[in-house]
Amino acid sequence: MCGIVGYIGDNDIKEILIKGLERLEYRGYDSAGIALVNGRLDIEKGRGKVGALRARIGAKIMAGSVGIGHTRWATHGLPNDINSHPHVSQSGKIALVHNGIIENYVLLKQELEKKGRTFYTETDTEIIAQLIEEIYESAKGSVSFKSAVQIALKQIEGTYGLAIVNIEEPNQLIVAKKGSPLLLGIGVGEMFIASDASPIIEHTKKVIYLNDGEMAVITKHDYSITTIDDVSLTKEIHELTFNLEEIQKGGFDHFMQKEIFEQPHSLANCLRGRLDSKNQQIHLGGLVDVMDRIVKAKRLIITGCGTSWHAGLVGEYLFEHLTKMRVEVEYASEFRYREPVIDSDDVIIAISQSGETADTLAALRMAKERGALVLGICNVVGSTIARETDAGVYNHAGPEIGVASTKAFTTQVAVLAMMAILIAQKKKTIEPDYATRLIKSLRTIPDKIQQIFENSEQIKEIAQMFTYAPNFLYLGRSYNFPVALEGALKLKEISYIHAEGYPAAEMKHGPIALIDQMMPVVVIAHTKHTNQKMISNIEEVRARRGRIISITGEENKEVIALSEFYCIIPPIEDCLSPILTVIPLQLLSYYIAVNRGCDVDQPRNLAKSVTVE
Ligand code: G6P
Repeated sequence: MCGIVGYIGDNDIKEILIKGLERLEYRGYDSAGIALVNGRLDIEKGRGKVGALRARIGAKIMAGSVGIGHTRWATHGLPNDINSHPHVSQSGKIALVHNGIIENYVLLKQELEKKGRTFYTETDTEIIAQLIEEIYESAKGSVSFKSAVQIALKQIEGTYGLAIVNIEEPNQLIVAKKGSPLLLGIGVGEMFIASDASPIIEHTKKVIYLNDGEMAVITKHDYSITTIDDVSLTKEIHELTFNLEEIQKGGFDHFMQKEIFEQPHSLANCLRGRLDSKNQQIHLGGLVDVMDRIVKAKRLIITGCGTSWHAGLVGEYLFEHLTKMRVEVEYASEFRYREPVIDSDDVIIAISQSGETADTLAALRMAKERGALVLGICNVVGSTIARETDAGVYNHAGPEIGVASTKAFTTQVAVLAMMAILIAQKKKTIEPDYATRLIKSLRTIPDKIQQIFENSEQIKEIAQMFTYAPNFLYLGRSYNFPVALEGALKLKEISYIHAEGYPAAEMKHGPIALIDQMMPVVVIAHTKHTNQKMISNIEEVRARRGRIISITGEENKEVIALSEFYCIIPPIEDCLSPILTVIPLQLLSYYIAVNRGCDVDQPRNLAKSVTVE
């Protein structure tokens, strides 16, 4: 949520910053801007996407020794030109970009106004620039600029990833982190900072992840990292594991399209080295050290937000079925503000593609404080959640850029399935034959997804038929109820069509009132043990003239006969079916959004990484 980038070095600073913002644009795209130091501050910023910023700057020569950039997801203040970052201090000497929320900004603003400072924007960010300057100027040379930043940060409540420049210190970039991600890229004679590694990867693979309460003073040849209390730190340098191609569209029209179609590959990567076909075992290296504690746990609590929460719901069905453990699934945002009873016998699984979602992070921190074992399922290697959990499993899906999550969901479910089988084997709650069957089945998933793509033309036709439907209903049972939620979410996110996902039987308790001949009803009928019940629900929809689009198996003749449209899914064990049944729903929402001319990769009002509460 908001992306920040910074550069210090001798290369084309304008291009490095703008390209960096293009890579970070999935984090927010309400406005964009850059500021360069070259004896003065050279700032270009305004409402709209990074493309608009690039067009506005055009061929204008912008050079400087150090620069910062920002792409915004608005929290405080309208997404207009004035509220765009970078924000400057009153004298125009200090500029900064910020990701996060300053909670005590009203109070700080009043105090600064009393001292004669005038504010020009509606943002919480402007006060940081003004506060730093107030401290720096009133000290009249008795504190360094870095110390002024430190003093200011101690007065600020809330969250921040910050990058700050000062025309009086033209060879230095200061960054600080609390609650919003920030990393340093270490080049030769140049340094980078960014909210994530995507703007850095083409320049260097060496990165340092800052932790909360840490800051860095960076020059083009060096960096020094301290706490905001000025305690020096020596930080590990990490090597980035992905490459530039993985964050490019690779011939597809949209990142989302690419990410849907690369799922056979991402699932293969996710499963690679983890399925031992000789011994019919699962290997999850990240859990080895904590397995005893997991096996003895009294309860499993799965938490996450959005699509990750939907994957968590599938996890609940999987874990109950295979491990016989007590499982609860919690929206991270609700969980953290209740008074949940958690103790050291509990295991928390935090699921997050980005590994940065503020609510999920806060929920896991709370659980950790209360003594629970905290596990993570993250896609972004080295992300905050991945670093703060006691142990975990990476999705290995590769970077997901499209705002609507696709390959993260299928790999999250695959990871949950592997975890559940492994734990069930340890607890001896699964028949060996059944475990063997599931492991073999997991192996077939990449090919089966590929088979579903062979029907993509048919899904395109369904999309064509319902492009302008104002509402959609998605119904599923058991393992495929979360898939109904996920299908509806995908459609809402990228096509702005109102859609609801429901457990099929619950339809009778309300949504059935909405059904008429205008209502497309997507039924996910690929769970054997609830099939007859699902058929009854389909009949109930048909009796009200609802339009049935079914996601089902070839053998499910009865469902096919009752459907106006259908999409065939290869056979698979019920508990693994969500990994397949979600694929046509992703495609359906994608094709509908394209038909409607929507901005698939950057849907309005959304951001991929939600680092504010
Ligand atoms: C945002 C994204 C969703 C994502 C959710 C949780 O809302 O737009 O696609 O599912 O955040 O993100 P996470 O990174 O924690 O999985």
